[in-house]
Amino acid sequence: MRILLLGYTGQLGWELERTLVCLGEVTALDYPTVDLRDEAGIRKAVRSAAPQIIVNATGYTAVDKAESEPDVAAAINARAPAILAEEAHALGAALIHYSTDYVFDGSKGSPYVETDTPHPLGVYAQTKLEGEQAVQKTGGAFLILRLSWLYSLRRDSFVTKVLGWSRQQPVLHMVTDQVGNPIWARTAAEATAQLLAMGSINIVPWLAERSGLYHFTGPDHTSRYEWAKAIIRLDPRRPEQVTEQVLPALTSEFPTPARRPLYSALDSRRLVDTFGLRLPPWEISLRLAMEV
Ligand SMILES: NC(=O)c1ccc[n+]([C@@H]2O[C@H](COP(=O)([O-])OP(=O)(O)OC[C@H]3O[C@@H](n4cnc5c(N)ncnc54)[C@H](OP(=O)(O)O)[C@@H]3O)[C@@H](O)[C@H]2O)c1
Repeated sequence: MRILLLGYTGQLGWELERTLVCLGEVTALDYPTVDLRDEAGIRKAVRSAAPQIIVNATGYTAVDKAESEPDVAAAINARAPAILAEEAHALGAALIHYSTDYVFDGSKGSPYVETDTPHPLGVYAQTKLEGEQAVQKTGGAFLILRLSWLYSLRRDSFVTKVLGWSRQQPVLHMVTDQVGNPIWARTAAEATAQLLAMGSINIVPWLAERSGLYHFTGPDHTSRYEWAKAIIRLDPRRPEQVTEQVLPALTSEFPTPARRPLYSALDSRRLVDTFGLRLPPWEISLRLAMEV
């Protein structure tokens, strides 16, 4: 399998490079070799790699900063996926693209399914939704995998932040009213590789038959408050912690430039039904991440 991976320095891309390598020849590119704001550069990079699979792990992921840089966010999150989808289609390749739970406004109150109507609350979410729509419109073989609360221990994430705070602050205030599905970047990368391995002999037609949007999460969800408590409990270097108490708080106590959905848990049954692929419960994946 010839795979072009974009965004290999990111949380997810880093792990993807390490898991996709078992499937064949991986060309991994990142900024500035390819700048996703440069249409001609994207097209040139894809054509010269001539992949069967393009895995797009890039994203303008600075949710708050996106509010003041909507054009850059749109170029990376909306326009670039459209170009990648066009190039994949023209080459007879398949595109694997990642999206977000933030396409929803959080008002449903139970896990979102793929047919629920998105209603983004901010620029990041809006541009990610436009990216999804562009990929779907282009056709060809594609998977859009919607993630929620992705983390790694390599780059800044909620997990690394909680570990840092736990070494500095005796009392932590964590919100109880934000609910989602935490997923370790390695788990998401391994699940992507397993999914590709299932159709490996005839990968593009196999994916074309299953093209669509999938919620790419484990079976359960949690609040940031419970997640933070689990991070503290599972920290292998607990003696370094100074935190004695984790207290419940509300999102309204921590204003941010971008609005976020409060309840953005995703239902992954379509993924299970289509591929027989079950991502683990969030706490199992967290324990494995902490033990690395
Ligand atoms: N993080 C989350 O909680 C979360 C939740 C749901 C969905 N997602 C989605 O999952 C995917 C991966 O997220 P992530 O957290 O792994 O992202 P990340 O760590 O922020 O990495 C983003 C990647 O995109 C690259 N990139 C940014 N601007 C670029 C440009 N102009 N040209 C080329 N490359 C560029 C970055 O390169 P540099 O390293 O050089 O900046 C990096 O490799 C994204 O589609 C994101 O929207 C993330």
